[in-house]
Amino acid sequence: MPDIKSEEKSLLRKIGLLPKIIGLVIGLIITYWVTKKAGFPMMFVKMYLAFVLACFIFFILLDLPDMKPLTPSRANRNLLLTFIIGSLIYTAAGVLHPQYNPLFEIEKINQLPRKELPAGPEAIEAGFEVYQENKCQNCHKTNRGGSSDRGPDLYITQTGIFPPEWVKEQIIEPRKIIHPGFEDPKAKKAMPTYFGDDIEGLEMDLLLTFLATQYNDKEMPVMGKTGETKKWSEIPERVAYGKKVYEGEINEEINCSVCHGKDAVPIMEGAGEFKNPDYFSKKLKKPFREFSDSDIVTSILYGVEETAMGAWLEEGLTREQAWAAVAYIRDAFQKDWAKTD
Ligand code: HEC
Ligand code: HEC
Repeated sequence: MPDIKSEEKSLLRKIGLLPKIIGLVIGLIITYWVTKKAGFPMMFVKMYLAFVLACFIFFILLDLPDMKPLTPSRANRNLLLTFIIGSLIYTAAGVLHPQYNPLFEIEKINQLPRKELPAGPEAIEAGFEVYQENKCQNCHKTNRGGSSDRGPDLYITQTGIFPPEWVKEQIIEPRKIIHPGFEDPKAKKAMPTYFGDDIEGLEMDLLLTFLATQYNDKEMPVMGKTGETKKWSEIPERVAYGKKVYEGEINEEINCSVCHGKDAVPIMEGAGEFKNPDYFSKKLKKPFREFSDSDIVTSILYGVEETAMGAWLEEGLTREQAWAAVAYIRDAFQKDWAKTD
């Protein structure tokens, strides 16, 4: 009479457990690899892995020795019990999981990070409405008016030339980077900190779309309280950033110093000579001494046709970078003679 141990062993062999486990591991690895490669969401990857596991259990059940035959009444009772327990488990799982709710799903889609902000005149108007509903005009001026100087004038400081992520941070966490001139710790006049909770998703994106219109190519951006503002060419931090732009550190593909020279002695023949007030622009038909800040930035953004001076805005230079370059050119090379208006 065989002892229990050897009976167990022969049972394991009968089921063929070892090859099945090896099959399971290989199955799991392949399924994981394929579903990951195909870019399935994690939830589906898990579902397929669970399916492989179910197959494994199914094959084991197939190979198990037959059960003793049941009487019809016991068989019926077992069937019914299985059905009831199964239904209970499914119902409980359904109740415990979040239910599908269209509003909830739409809200989730709105929260997804958008690659680009909504655009077009309607989006700008909708964004201006968000701006007004939140009473931003109680503290800020824009090119649509406003009379308060409690916060910076968003038009002459040109909020619209900064990356939207930066602007969003100023709205959500206003204490993190304080605009120069507003370091006043008295909380009453300071920018409120609750806008991150009040303005979310699409509303925030629309607001940012409106704020992105707050720029102009006519005047160099300024910083500070209205009435006490300074142009970027007078702000060392902005000039330092402009030097980096000029020397190609910010945007490797657009390196002004490659053609104009680090010290403004042109390396490329015919490139603008920033130190020379008599350098004559063919495009503007006037010498450099008569250039306004706007003339310089316009050349940088839109280029000089039929010359190596490209339209750098199209090539990926931002307005912020272009204005910083102007600030640097004015400060480093033209302080003595630059036109100041
Ligand atoms: C109670 C007055 C107040 C209100 C209301 C207010 N702000 Fe401000 N805001 C300020 C002050 C003061 C500053 C400057 C200090 C700082 O940088 O936090 C500022 C700074 C900012 C800046 C950063 C500007 C820069 O160049 O650094 C942005 C952008 C801005 N506010 C947008 C908004 C928007 C959009 C709203 C409405 C949703 C709003 N603010 C409402 C007072 C206000
Ligand atoms: C590939 C070479 C090249 C690069 C890079 C370049 N420029 Fe120029 N730039 C020129 C040339 C050539 C001219 C002269 C155009 C002309 O004949 O009017 C010029 C002219 C200018 C002028 C005078 C505009 C005028 O009307 O003559 C300014 C200002 C200027 N560049 C600024 C910049 C700045 C700032 C950068 C970097 C963001 C830059 N350039 C990058 C070649 C270049």
